[in-house]
Amino acid sequence: MEFEKHIIDKITELSGLMRETVENAVEIPPEKKLGDLAFPCFVLAKTMRKAPPAIAKELAEKIGSDEYIDRVEAVGGYVNFFYRRDVFSKTVLSAIKSAGENWGSSDIGKGRTVLVEFSSPNIAKPFHIGHLFSTAIGNSLEKIYRHLGYQTVKINHLGDWGTQFGKLISAYKRWGNKEVIDKDPINELLKIYVKFHNEAEKDPSLEDEARMYFKMLEDGDEETTALWQYFRDISLIEFERVYNMLGVSFDSYAGESFYSDKMQEVVDLLDNMQLLSDSENAKVVNLSDCNIPPCIIVKSDGATIYATRDLAAAIYRKRTYDFHKNIYVVGTPQALHFKQIFSVLDKMGYEWAKDCVHVGFGLVKFADKKLSTRHGDVVFLEDVLNESIQKTLEIVSKNSPSMENKEEVAQKIGIGAILYAFLKSSRERDIVFSWDDMLDFEGESAPYVQYSYARGRSILRRTDIDYLNADVSKITSDDEYALVSLLAGFEDAVRDAADKNEPFYVTRYVTNLARAFNKFYNSYPILKNDVDEETKKARLLLVDAVTQVIKTALALLGIETVESM
Ligand code: ARG
Repeated sequence: MEFEKHIIDKITELSGLMRETVENAVEIPPEKKLGDLAFPCFVLAKTMRKAPPAIAKELAEKIGSDEYIDRVEAVGGYVNFFYRRDVFSKTVLSAIKSAGENWGSSDIGKGRTVLVEFSSPNIAKPFHIGHLFSTAIGNSLEKIYRHLGYQTVKINHLGDWGTQFGKLISAYKRWGNKEVIDKDPINELLKIYVKFHNEAEKDPSLEDEARMYFKMLEDGDEETTALWQYFRDISLIEFERVYNMLGVSFDSYAGESFYSDKMQEVVDLLDNMQLLSDSENAKVVNLSDCNIPPCIIVKSDGATIYATRDLAAAIYRKRTYDFHKNIYVVGTPQALHFKQIFSVLDKMGYEWAKDCVHVGFGLVKFADKKLSTRHGDVVFLEDVLNESIQKTLEIVSKNSPSMENKEEVAQKIGIGAILYAFLKSSRERDIVFSWDDMLDFEGESAPYVQYSYARGRSILRRTDIDYLNADVSKITSDDEYALVSLLAGFEDAVRDAADKNEPFYVTRYVTNLARAFNKFYNSYPILKNDVDEETKKARLLLVDAVTQVIKTALALLGIETVESM
């Protein structure tokens, strides 16, 4: 922002401090009555040998007002700057108008690639609520990084390899019925998988059979490979349906199986570096110097595991994409696993191990006991999404019986409500999934924000006044100015979200923006006859900018907007 830059320049010049020191010291005051920007003078106390309040007073007097600054006040050890509201509003609103959906974007990521691995469900198993949490966060993070100019790659590290597929193949050969499975794939595959476990308890030789099938699979046997491929294909069709509903897509589905032929190299590398030691017939990397348990690389039966595949995947990703950051959006229970992986990579001498980041998240609890479960205890995601859309449809039909595109609106709001629920708090917190909260049109929810957007859009639709050249000096009330300041702060929210890998900075931002907008909307007439023409125009321009920014911010969360609701 040129206002901030201008003030930082002035302080730098007058204080003799390094520009960077000033840059780091300035802060946004907690309340508007303390100004738009503040400089704490404590950093100067030592060199100037004066008390901070005296320094603040002196600095405030020296800086004074100018074309950007309305006034400067010294309060305690702080210098508080008040921008010229008319100039500030004009600058911000015209910048938003010309940036459009690029408002808040930046080029800090230029020339750098960020990989975001997210969702990663296991084939032949239900896509569960934890995978949805990962999907919501990862999908949003990717958009956030892209907004900041990074090149991004969305990776779905499918759980499609491992000894469990030996079991599934054995189960299928014993009890599988293709016709039945094709009708309800995941559920039926889950059934025979569970049956395998029950039977294997009675007859342990089943386990040997399963091991044999997995070995055959690893060796590329035709029939077992075809079966595995079939399980993978039908699972992906199911997953794709959920992704389509959510508006989520991936650049790569290179899952665990993709690394099945890339693990020997990892084992050899570790062996050559003498990092492998024997432990109860397994080969492990000792990590006691990192105070964590050893990372198992090869099991006692010679099979590689999840961790080995993750090591191969990280190395492959570095070679393929030369990433700046390699992000894993996976539940916090796997924190130790990722610590082990990153420590092993570090021991292998890969300096990029530090660029691998585990982005964890909490658990999901259900406030409503009655979540539709088509299949016993397992919550099927598709059912949850459909239920949300259905409930939204009921609300929308009641509120606006005559609306034409009710289904489409219900789809966008119903899905948005769910995504928002996952993104509204800091991700490590457990979340409570409650229909009442999610679909509360007046609460902290997607529908509330989407409704604010639709309200703004409906005002703009109702007029044909050309407001683009509005004289913005007309909007200087506290509420209007607060709204403009919020609009100006969008890029900071996006950057914070990327710095901490926390989409919730954007969620909080857009919710605050919607609140400030509703406050403005409820207290300031816009199109009423007694509002003079210039004020009308200025307010319309403000509404235009707010709707633009709400739309962009929601899009970064993966949430769509509707023009009326
Ligand atoms: N498929 C795993 C699960 O459902 C998540 C995969 C996480 N990603 C990874 N690179 N290990 O628990």
